[in-house]
Amino acid sequence: MSKVLVVYCSMSGNTKAAAEAVAEGAMAAGAQVTLKKCTDAEPKDLMECDAVLFGSYDAFSYMGGGLKDFFDRAFYPTQGQVTDKPYASFVTHGGGGKAIKSIESIAQSFKLKKIAEAMLIKGKPEGQAIADLKALGAKIAVATGK
Ligand SMILES: Cc1cc2nc3c(=O)[nH]c(=O)nc-3n(C[C@H](O)[C@H](O)[C@H](O)COP(=O)(O)O)c2cc1C
Repeated sequence: MSKVLVVYCSMSGNTKAAAEAVAEGAMAAGAQVTLKKCTDAEPKDLMECDAVLFGSYDAFSYMGGGLKDFFDRAFYPTQGQVTDKPYASFVTHGGGGKAIKSIESIAQSFKLKKIAEAMLIKGKPEGQAIADLKALGAKIAVATGK
């Protein structure tokens, strides 16, 4: 069974709802899912999973500070130990969504392997967005090959 980590930061609940949808999709595809707020996530969570999903709100065209803090805390402790680990990301926004670039740039520094295009969701995910998020969760669950 693959172990999928979902790390997200959310101020008003939109990204939390998106994180819950990807987690549900990954679980439905047979993965064991750990869903963590970025402030609760630890470097070992990143090392112990087989694949990871990062979620954030857009904050001034950058990721939320809590997710950046997680990346900062995790960089040295995981260096060289997460190379080619599959990842994907999702961002909720108010009409922009440029924050995705900041996540993908840092994921590259960690040498993670992007396995799907990032999902951008305007506001609270509903309807098709929920279905797409679940599909993203399922995709990462199978990308581990476990
Ligand atoms: C401090 C702050 C800065 C924001 N900056 C942007 C931005 O640059 N571009 C954008 O599209 N949305 C921006 N937004 C809107 C949020 O990204 C959007 O409402 C998001 O869905 C909130 O997610 P959450 O409910 O998970 O906190 C900003 C919101 C906040 C609180």
